[in-house]
Amino acid sequence: MLISAQDRRIDASMMQLINCTNQTMKLILSSLATIGLVMTLLVNAAMAIDPAAVATEAATNTVCPISGKPVDPAITAEYEGRKWSFAKEACKTKWLKSREESLYQKLGGKPAMEAAVDAFYVKVLADNRVKHFFDNVSMDKQRRKQKEFLSAAFGGPLPWTGKDMRKAHEGMGLTEEHFNAIAENLVNTLKDLKIKQELIDQVVAVALTTKDDVLGRPKKAN
Ligand code: HEM
Repeated sequence: MLISAQDRRIDASMMQLINCTNQTMKLILSSLATIGLVMTLLVNAAMAIDPAAVATEAATNTVCPISGKPVDPAITAEYEGRKWSFAKEACKTKWLKSREESLYQKLGGKPAMEAAVDAFYVKVLADNRVKHFFDNVSMDKQRRKQKEFLSAAFGGPLPWTGKDMRKAHEGMGLTEEHFNAIAENLVNTLKDLKIKQELIDQVVAVALTTKDDVLGRPKKAN
């Protein structure tokens, strides 16, 4: 069969078109792969910045929270729907006793902390003395961090993994009046939630331990 010069030109153009289409497809696919990779890196980075996001999801701990030694998987306790493991029976007993005696548990544990911090920020954001400090702050994140911080400070089972209070409030120009306004909102929140005065006093005592750091004052010598 004879192939004319015109047919060859058409074939060559078709091949060029196919090559071109293949390259476009490759480009699109590699762009999609790059976008996928960037998305994964962003999600991982977000998780790394905020360990609180994963702390409560962990199945169980591998290091004993009392002795710091590897756990015996047979020695476990359930607390707020999470399984905790311990190195020895004595560690488990000691840990459960500290939970029981903690201000965190006396206040009502996780659900009480959630309710209190949510209600607290409703008050803070309505308070003209302090609300402007939160203008550019992600309140979802702030509520989550505050729940984590206060839970740990009151003796909850999970550690505080965020910034220290001095660093977190650095450069904000906070004064005694600002601190007192925040403390007042916290106290009024707890009163609204019908928490006993004796426990409110303990909460205030814990909040006061952060005052020098929050206000960026020199550390007191012990
Ligand atoms: C009892 C005193 C206080 C406690 C326990 C406390 C606790 C916290 C915690 C846990 C964080 C998150 C830190 C992190 O990101 O790792 C934070 C951030 C912040 N706090 Fe406080 N705080 C106190 C007082 C105040 C006061 C008096 C103000 C202002 C009136 C304030 C304004 C802020 C703001 C604006 C942030 C967000 C910073 C940012 O994300 O850029 N805090 N605080």
